Amino acid sequence: MGSKTETREDDGLLRDCWYFAGLSRDIRAGGLVHRSIAGEPLVLGRDETGAPFALRDICPHRAAPLSAGRMLDHDGAATVECPYHGWRFRARDGVCAHIPSLVQGQDFEASRIRARRYPAVEQGGLVWAFIPADPRFTGEPDHAPPRFAAQEKTGDQPKLVLKRIFDCHVDHAVVGLMDPAHGPFVHRQWWWRSAHSLHDKAKAFEPREYGFAMAEHKPSSNSYAYRLLGGAPTTEIVFRLPGVRTETIRNARHTVLGFTAVTPLDAQTTEITQVFFWDAPILSLIWPFAWLGGKAFLDQDGSMVDLQQQGLKHDPNLMLIPDADMQAIWYQRLKKEWAASRAEGRAFANPVQPVTLRWRS
Ligand code: FES
Ligand SMILES: [Fe+2]
Repeated sequence: MGSKTETREDDGLLRDCWYFAGLSRDIRAGGLVHRSIAGEPLVLGRDETGAPFALRDICPHRAAPLSAGRMLDHDGAATVECPYHGWRFRARDGVCAHIPSLVQGQDFEASRIRARRYPAVEQGGLVWAFIPADPRFTGEPDHAPPRFAAQEKTGDQPKLVLKRIFDCHVDHAVVGLMDPAHGPFVHRQWWWRSAHSLHDKAKAFEPREYGFAMAEHKPSSNSYAYRLLGGAPTTEIVFRLPGVRTETIRNARHTVLGFTAVTPLDAQTTEITQVFFWDAPILSLIWPFAWLGGKAFLDQDGSMVDLQQQGLKHDPNLMLIPDADMQAIWYQRLKKEWAASRAEGRAFANPVQPVTLRWRS
């Protein structure tokens, strides 16, 4: 069987970075989960220590998906057994531990074979997988996935989870979610804001690790939903490459963390996952409404992005205008700098400068 070298056209997807791979609670001991990230098929599970692992979901023998197999103990090591010919691959490093068809004395070293392993990390109730730019990469990444300070208050248990597939390139989903000007048009609903309220906004932004933040501020007076928390809440919104947005809302007593991961499954399909953590008992009472509200938001964004595809099919030029589209411009600059700094093997230099942006929404 001929060997193939991998080539990858520029699909506009970032590599050498940590992608959100799933919720801790969705990756169960003894189970296997298939997941596509940036066009790569992954199988996720837990090794003998309970730590999550990620392997390429293609058997090195003849390409059957390992996720269709099962987890099996082999001499004390957790292995994934391929469903086709039963080869076993060690969960922690992907090394082949067993080939059932070999007979005594057959000179074939199974341990030379390896399913590709992707670094995986679990923290804060979330599992992250590192997708390297170089398919031969075997080490550990030079940076860690994000940690969220708000979880010191909210804990690691997701209270509310929303998901939706967007049929678009990740860039359109990211830009759509960070765009402040679409709110009054796409998210017009009585419980969020009144229909005729367009207000001048001025928000301070600053660079943050691999991204930027809308600094902590009092939310707009035209948003009813924040009032639920009571007190005088503040909000801070942080964006970080490759596509993670967090909003931390807090008052004197309580904290809510809204986590949004925009994950490219491949170059044309993107999954949005929203996870909310909180320590406010009142929110735990009204969570079905929060779920409905969140779902309405996500569906509105998704329908708009789907509609936008009709125009994008014709590959038109797109515009970004000041200041409402500045975050989208930063996103593009951040991506460019990410790719350049990785290719040149140098430290990432954040292109964002502190600034106050103004728009009406
Ligand atoms: S294809 Fe996996 S063992 Fe043969
Ligand atoms: Fe939106």
